[in-house]
Amino acid sequence: MGYAQVRSVALSGVVGEVIVVEADVAPGLPSLVVSGLPDAALSEARDRIRAAVHNSGASWPQQRITVNLLPAHLRKHGSGFDTAMALAVLAAGAGLPIGRLVDAVVLGELGLDGTVRPVRGVLPAVLAASRAGVGAAVVPPANVAEARLVPGVEVRAADSLGRIIGYLHGAERLLDPVSGASVPEPPPLDLADVLGQERGRRVIELAAAGRHHVAMFGPPGAGKTMLAHRLPGILPPLGDEEAIEATALHSVAGTLPPGSGLIRRPPLQSPHHTASVAALVGGGSGLARPGAISLAHNGVLFLDECAEFQPGALDALREPLEEGRIRLRRASGETVYPARMQLVMAANLCPCARPPHLCQCPSVVRRRYLGRLSGPLMDRIDLQVDLDPVRSAALVDTEIVESSEVVAKRVAEARGIAAERWKPWAGANAEAPGHVIRHHRMRLPRSVLHPLVRAVDRGRMSARGFERCVRVAWTMADLDGRSAPDTGDVAEALQMRSRSSR
Ligand SMILES: Nc1ncnc2c1ncn2[C@@H]1O[C@H](COP(=O)(O)OP(=O)(O)O)[C@@H](O)[C@H]1O
Ligand SMILES: [Mg+2]
Ligand SMILES: [Zn+2]
Repeated sequence: MGYAQVRSVALSGVVGEVIVVEADVAPGLPSLVVSGLPDAALSEARDRIRAAVHNSGASWPQQRITVNLLPAHLRKHGSGFDTAMALAVLAAGAGLPIGRLVDAVVLGELGLDGTVRPVRGVLPAVLAASRAGVGAAVVPPANVAEARLVPGVEVRAADSLGRIIGYLHGAERLLDPVSGASVPEPPPLDLADVLGQERGRRVIELAAAGRHHVAMFGPPGAGKTMLAHRLPGILPPLGDEEAIEATALHSVAGTLPPGSGLIRRPPLQSPHHTASVAALVGGGSGLARPGAISLAHNGVLFLDECAEFQPGALDALREPLEEGRIRLRRASGETVYPARMQLVMAANLCPCARPPHLCQCPSVVRRRYLGRLSGPLMDRIDLQVDLDPVRSAALVDTEIVESSEVVAKRVAEARGIAAERWKPWAGANAEAPGHVIRHHRMRLPRSVLHPLVRAVDRGRMSARGFERCVRVAWTMADLDGRSAPDTGDVAEALQMRSRSSR
């Protein structure tokens, strides 16, 4: 008979909240009731923790047991509370001394044999513990490296329930694995690999410097895929906050490689065009998994062969592009994940994927193919360019091309200038709100805007397109170290959006 509490963490999206797992053991027919809005996984947990306790050599209290998870209003998903539940039951019903867990959260799923198994979302969970002032965390061994990314929390590992029981009795130690140097991220692909293709290189550099979304059209082999994969390597590395956000999302998705450190390079996600809408935006039962758009948060979402994606998948991108996050609405409630990414799209000009001079498809086929890229989506893509095939000369005569390192330096300087200018409204040109762009201090003279004015007058450009071009022109000036765009920039920006006006 008795009562006990052990703490754990529940996640809603990437936001953790420390919860209390309380157990009450009272006389009566042996039973186990779990309450506190548990989902299906939690009722399965009843059988799991009972078996795990037996197989750890402890005896299950043969009384009426009530386990409750607080606060009750919080939705609790997943199997990460198993270990805390088992410990609370043993403390309440079998006199297990849990004094050593007073300042700790316990995370981990239990196997039937009593092993403590890794769970998703350990980084945001330990972060939540830290913010709640909890000083320690007991986690599955495979999650130690991730848990240790949070400073100020003492992390110990337990490979089995039996080990924690032994530790609480003072007979055994928790594991203190030396997390070796974290596995370094592989080096980025270098822009120096892309020969010739000046236009492609220019557009990728502009995209990086202004955080513009970009769409590249062109024949197979023009280097579209190559260029997209080289964007993360010229983007500024993630700051601390951004790195934690990105890593937490990968933690919740379960895609963090074991032993990896914080994600510092902007991540690139390249979902295949056959990917389901759920794979793209997130979903699944229990704690919804973040989709590619959230795994690309603070990085790049690359839609290769974008005209091949289902229209529904492309439509699903509109909300995140506008709001920087995605809401997943399901029967069990709503989960929100951050999804602020830079979009890169690439497409062939025709579904036959032949070079233009060999394509004999009727023009209506080509128009219909790219027509799938809807207006509202393309409206947000500042840079839309047609790429030419690579010239043979570029491939044969060894040209000296700038490396990612050189370009990244220019990009970082341009970003710095832009961030200073748009403070506090935005950090990059693509994100500067319209009212700021139009503000009298930033407004460009009519003479500079001349090419755009003409395009609008001829009905070739919308008001939105006008503003997006102005943003790109600012990026050109920033890369060049000039204090404001000139007519040349505006004309080039217009050219880089020529496709949308067709
Ligand atoms: N500009 C380039 N410089 C060097 N190699 C290139 C270039 N463009 C294409 N290639 C070669 O062609 C291959 C296909 O390029 P890719 O980027 O997949 O073209 P796309 O996506 O436009 O069809 C690359 O793996 C690379 O070997
Ligand atoms: Mg390609
Ligand atoms: Zn064709």
